[in-house]
Amino acid sequence: MTPSPDARISTKPPPAQAGGADVCVHVCVTCQAGEICDDGADRPGLRFRRALENAHAEADDADWLEIREISCLASCERGCAAVISMPGKWSYLLGRLGEPKAADFLAYARTYRASKTGVVLPSKRPASLHDAVLGRIPSLVPPVEDAP
Ligand code: FES
Repeated sequence: MTPSPDARISTKPPPAQAGGADVCVHVCVTCQAGEICDDGADRPGLRFRRALENAHAEADDADWLEIREISCLASCERGCAAVISMPGKWSYLLGRLGEPKAADFLAYARTYRASKTGVVLPSKRPASLHDAVLGRIPSLVPPVEDAP
C-alpha cells in the first residue's frame, strides 16, 4: 500500500546542517541603506553582518546559527537586507536592518528557530523588527520524512 502524501510529513525537527548550524542567515554586505559610501568604506550591510556576528559570538549557544555573506538581495531601497532560512521552514527576507538591530535580529532568529514552520508573528518579534519582513519563500527542502 502506498502511503498517503500526508504520511510523509514529520513533526520531528529538521536535521542540523553540516557543521552543526541549523539556521542560516544570508546578510547582504553591499547594502548602503541610504548612505553615500566612499569607495573602500565599509557599507552598512557589512557593518550589520559584523554586529550580528559579534552578538552571536557573545551568546553561549553559538552553534545553531550560520551567517553567510551575499551581494544584493534585490531589496536595495529597503536595506540593510538579510534572508533567514532553515530546512523545512519558510524562508524570510527582511529589510530595514542595521547595526543597532543586530541583537534584536538574533532574538528573532532564536524565535524563528523554535517555531514549527518559521512563522514569527509581528507580536512575537522585537519592536524594532515589526516592519522588517519584506517577503517569504517556501522551503525547497521538504519536511523530514519519518523513518519507516
Ligand atoms: S545591495 Fe543589499 S539588497 Fe541590494
